[in-house]
Amino acid sequence: MTNDSDAMTSADTGGAVDWDAQAAVFDEQPDHGLRDPEVRRAWAERLRGWLPGRAGDVLDLGCGTGSLSLLAAEQGHRVTGVDLSPAMVRLAREKLAGRDAVFLVGDAAAPPVGEQRFDAVLVRHVLWTLPDPARVLRRWYGLLRPGGRLVLIEGVWGSAHPVGIPAERLTGLLTPIAGQVRVERLSDDARLWGGEVTDERYAVVAPVP
Ligand SMILES: C[S@@+](CC[C@H](N)C(=O)[O-])C[C@H]1O[C@@H](n2cnc3c(N)ncnc32)[C@H](O)[C@@H]1O
Repeated sequence: MTNDSDAMTSADTGGAVDWDAQAAVFDEQPDHGLRDPEVRRAWAERLRGWLPGRAGDVLDLGCGTGSLSLLAAEQGHRVTGVDLSPAMVRLAREKLAGRDAVFLVGDAAAPPVGEQRFDAVLVRHVLWTLPDPARVLRRWYGLLRPGGRLVLIEGVWGSAHPVGIPAERLTGLLTPIAGQVRVERLSDDARLWGGEVTDERYAVVAPVP
């Protein structure tokens, strides 16, 4: 997402976006491409705190160009990425060439992973675009192994016409499924966004006992 709340365009509003068309420029946003070493380091530190402490299987849903997938792979995890956009998947495959990672074209709401189960399901800036988030959250939580965790990074962007999902709503949907959830505020860490932000940005971690 952009680091300027009011610079939100219709191209950022979930279902209306042609993600194939966006793919070539997607990484230009600091928090998308993670090209700035400080931004990259900030996300790597957060991810280390959210993902399992030892190497595991991470499912990155709506993986985009694979920027978080790459951080997870660099931390020793095996990654499966899923994205509806073939152009995004192509870029993710290039970004993680030679890594222990596979990328599939598919729907995050019904991930094409068969019976495979994961130590972490990681989803950044995707849930808010999907219809019926409660059903999707149940499905994602069901893809986890015992000891696994669901890691959701979401927010509310824009001031005139805000889009996204507030933390309170997300935790309200997730608590009946997962029981215990932890919310981490991300708005006040400018390093993550490549600049100050004033809107609501957060991560939610829901562990499986
Ligand atoms: C805002 S981008 C986030 C990309 C990535 N998660 C990141 O944080 O860098 C949203 C991504 O979700 C993908 N997407 C949107 N709806 C999807 C769906 N139903 N299933 C799979 N991917 C979807 C888009 O193609 C796009 O790559």
